[in-house]
Amino acid sequence: MKGKVLVTGGAGYIGSHTCVELINEGYEPVIVDNFSNSERFVIDRIREITGVKCSLIEGDCTNQNFLESNLKSLDLVGCIHFAASKAVGESSKLPLKYYHNNIASTVAILAVLEKINCPNFVFSSSCTVYGQPDILPVTENSSIKPAESPYGRTKQMCEDIIRDCYNAGQGIKAFALRYFNPIGAHPSALIGELPLGTPNNLVPFITQTAIGKRAELTVFGNDYNTPDGTCIRDYIHVVDLAKAHVKAIKKLIVSNESVFDVINLGTGHGNSVLEVIESFEKVNGIRLNYKIGPRRNGDVEKVYADCSYAKDTLNWKTELSLEEALKDAWNWEKTL
Ligand code: NAD
Ligand code: WQD
Repeated sequence: MKGKVLVTGGAGYIGSHTCVELINEGYEPVIVDNFSNSERFVIDRIREITGVKCSLIEGDCTNQNFLESNLKSLDLVGCIHFAASKAVGESSKLPLKYYHNNIASTVAILAVLEKINCPNFVFSSSCTVYGQPDILPVTENSSIKPAESPYGRTKQMCEDIIRDCYNAGQGIKAFALRYFNPIGAHPSALIGELPLGTPNNLVPFITQTAIGKRAELTVFGNDYNTPDGTCIRDYIHVVDLAKAHVKAIKKLIVSNESVFDVINLGTGHGNSVLEVIESFEKVNGIRLNYKIGPRRNGDVEKVYADCSYAKDTLNWKTELSLEEALKDAWNWEKTL
C-alpha cells in the first residue's frame, strides 16, 4: 500500500469513484462522510468492485474536534476534500447552509491537516467559478466572474482560503480541481449518482425520464446563440474525473515544493443539450419524451474547458466518450 488518503465525502458520487481508483492505484482511502447526501451501501459497493473494504469514519467535516481526534493517529499521506453541499438552486434559498457546510468544513480540514503535518490537499472546485467566460475554451487564466449563486461563491471562497494558506508559507501543497460537468457511472453499475428528490442536472433527469420516474424532460431554452439553440457544456465521465484525482494527489505526495494551483478537468469538447439527448437515445436504443421549454435562470450559454494544463501538469486526459458515459448512466439507473 502507498499510504492512507483521507477522502471526505467519499461515499458521494465523485468521492466513491475516486476511492475505487485510489484502491486500483494501491492507496488506502479513509472515508469521512456524514451521509447527508449519500447511502451507506456505497461502502459495500466499493468493496464489491475492488475487493477492498474502505475504512469509514462517520461524522461531520465541519467539526474540527471530531476530525482531529479521529485523524491524528492515522499517518495520512494526503487528503481529497469532496464533502460539500452542491445543489445550486437550493443554495440561493438556504445560503447559510452552504456557507456553513462548504466553508466551515474546508477550514476545519485545513486546520487539522496542518496540525497533523499532512500538507497534500486536493480540493473539489467547479467550472461555475468562471460564469460565462469571454473566450472559449476556458483556460485557468480566465477571469473569475461574480458567482451566480451562494454555492458558486463557496467554491471561489474556498479557493481563496487555500491560496491564503499557501501564501502564509507553512508548506501546504494543494490543487483546486475545477470540474466541468461530471456524468455517467462506474461501468460495473454498482456505484453512480444518487440525486435526492427531483434531479437538477441534465443526465439524471434524462435517465429518470427514460425509466419512467419522470413524465417528461424539459429542455431549458432553444434560443441560445449556439448551432442548435441549446446550451453547450463539457460533459466528463466520472471515472475519468476520479482518475485525475489520483494523479493529482500522487503528484503532490512525491513533490517537495509548496504549491497552490488550479486545474481544469473536462474533455475539451462542448456538447449541446440536444446532442446529449440524441446520443443517449442512440447509444441506449430508447426514445426520450422531451419538450422545449423556457430558459432556466442563471444558465450560461456555453462553456467548455481547455484541458492542456491538466495534460501538462498531471499527464492526464479523458479516455471515455460521451456515449460511454450515457450508456453507464443508463445501466446504473436500471439498477436503482
Ligand atoms: P455528493 O453530494 O454526491 O457527495 C458529497 C458527499 O459529501 C456526500 O456523501 C455527503 O454525504 C458528504 N458530505 C456533505 N457534507 C458533509 C459534511 N459536512 N461532513 C461529512 N460529509 C459530508 O456530491 P458530488 O457530486 O460527489 O460532489 C463532490 C464535490 O465535487 C462537491 O464538493 C461538489 O461541490 C463538487 N462538484 C460537483 C460537481 C457535480 O456536478 N457533481 C461539479 C463540480 C464540483
Ligand atoms: C446542463 C445543461 C441546462 C436539466 C451544474 C452546476 C455547476 C456544476 C455542474 C457543481 C444546461 C440543461 C438541465 C434539465 C435541461 N456543479 N438542462 N433540462 O447547470 O451546467 O452545471 O452542475 O459545481 O455548478 O450549476 O449542469 O446538468 O444542471 O445542466 O435542459 O432538466 O442541461 O439548461 O444547459 P450545469 P446541469
